[in-house]
Amino acid sequence: MPDEFIEVNPEDIPDNPFKVIGSQWMLVTAGNAQSFNTMTASWGGFGVMWAKKICTCVVRPTRHTYGFMEKSDTFSLSFFTPEYKKTLLFCGTHSGRDTDKMAETGLTPVEDVGTVYYNEARLVFVCKKIYHHDIDPARFLDTEIESNYPLKDYHRMYLGEVIKCLIKQGD
Ligand SMILES: Cc1cc2nc3c(=O)[nH]c(=O)nc-3n(C[C@H](O)[C@H](O)[C@H](O)COP(=O)(O)O)c2cc1C
Repeated sequence: MPDEFIEVNPEDIPDNPFKVIGSQWMLVTAGNAQSFNTMTASWGGFGVMWAKKICTCVVRPTRHTYGFMEKSDTFSLSFFTPEYKKTLLFCGTHSGRDTDKMAETGLTPVEDVGTVYYNEARLVFVCKKIYHHDIDPARFLDTEIESNYPLKDYHRMYLGEVIKCLIKQGD
């Protein structure tokens, strides 16, 4: 882990999950330094389940990142300061299938605990995948939800136990 990061208890982070995920967005990354992929996400959450500290993210099976999420035991969520919004927009509008996102964005991948995050991040969660669940349209109690799925590519929801929470010193 790079020197500028310090490991903290997730209970001590000041961020508001609604703002940080919904408005600032995050990079969901899975794989190791040799082979990984990342995508932007603005849906997910932080919370507690089975008495564990949990990060949740949702990945459509159509994403290149999905295959990496499937074959990895760990994943990371990386959060950035506002000047990286363009980088996040890029990673959320281009696919790793046909784009080298690291070359295009200049992000510096760091491998830690078998997964990858970024030296430029201000807040990182490294998570162990402990549960997944496919969104089931038969269970939509609010029929409006279906409008998010014109391609019927219902997300897989991943619950990751937080094994490391890092913040950039000085942030
Ligand atoms: C702001 C924003 C939020 C997004 N949130 C999600 C999300 O939560 N889940 C998801 O599957 N895709 C989400 N996407 C779309 C993916 O980031 C996008 O399809 C990306 O190009 C996938 O890259 P990949 O094919 O390399 O995995 C989001 C895109 C943007 C711009």
